[in-house]
Amino acid sequence: MKKLFADTDLLKLQFQKSLLGSGGIPAFIRNENAAMLRYLLPLQETTPELWIANDEDLEKALALLNAPPVAEKTPEPRIFIGTKNKHKISEISAILRGCGAEAIIPDDLGGLPDVEEDGHSFEENASKKAIAFAKFAAAKFPEQGRGVMAIADDSGLEADALFGAPGVHSSRYAEDDLRRIAKLLTEIGRANKRSGEENRRARFVSVVALASPDGVEACFRGEVNGIIIETPRGSNGFGYDPVFVPDGFSLTFAELSSTEKNKISHRSRALAKLDQYMRTKHD
Ligand code: IMP
Repeated sequence: MKKLFADTDLLKLQFQKSLLGSGGIPAFIRNENAAMLRYLLPLQETTPELWIANDEDLEKALALLNAPPVAEKTPEPRIFIGTKNKHKISEISAILRGCGAEAIIPDDLGGLPDVEEDGHSFEENASKKAIAFAKFAAAKFPEQGRGVMAIADDSGLEADALFGAPGVHSSRYAEDDLRRIAKLLTEIGRANKRSGEENRRARFVSVVALASPDGVEACFRGEVNGIIIETPRGSNGFGYDPVFVPDGFSLTFAELSSTEKNKISHRSRALAKLDQYMRTKHD
């Protein structure tokens, strides 16, 4: 916004025509007409960029107006990473750094609100969490208000023989990882016996949602296909890793190193899509 003052009645006429008509630029005109002054100028703002007192000044003012506008620097977007998992935090922080966003983590805001994961899809759960986290973070930054965004994820295992179970119930399928794996193997065995087919196909799915307090902006889905073997193998990783062999590999996720797993995992695929999106958005 350019603040310009004109001094004389003569200039005032020219000035009004050329400046006020040009749209969106407040022209500050000093004259005796108080009503006009009040109409044109917020009285508290009295520092002009240019004081127009003669024809030469007027030319300068017009040149100033015709100069291309200086692009205003957009402030860094602030994005709350809605997870306490240190590994996920470092992966997502790196993505946000790469696109010039400021990452905030639960430790910065004194925790993470509990959100019930009662959706029927990974998208529903991730979105519900991301919106709740964005509202939580926005309340902590009232000056930025609804401009604050949040990221949340939901993931799990889908077995074809079980029509996609355990799916969104993966973490609540049984009391602990050992029991969850045992239940998965029993259920797949039973289902295959019933159908008379040996179907051990499965996939890990991860959905990452990006939301503002007003709603979800985008969801990113990553998947890795493979099979569920009959006997657990390996001690790395967590969850269903010991019984999952990704396509193209002979080792389970629990036998691969975390670096090898991260290269092909459902989560890294979802995060790669988030990365791509953030880079395009903040180009
Ligand atoms: P969360 O959404 O990341 O908390 O994952 C939900 C559940 O899905 C976990 O508790 C695990 O049981 C399962 N899960 C998700 N990702 C993986 C994985 O990479 N390996 C093994 N299990 C996983």
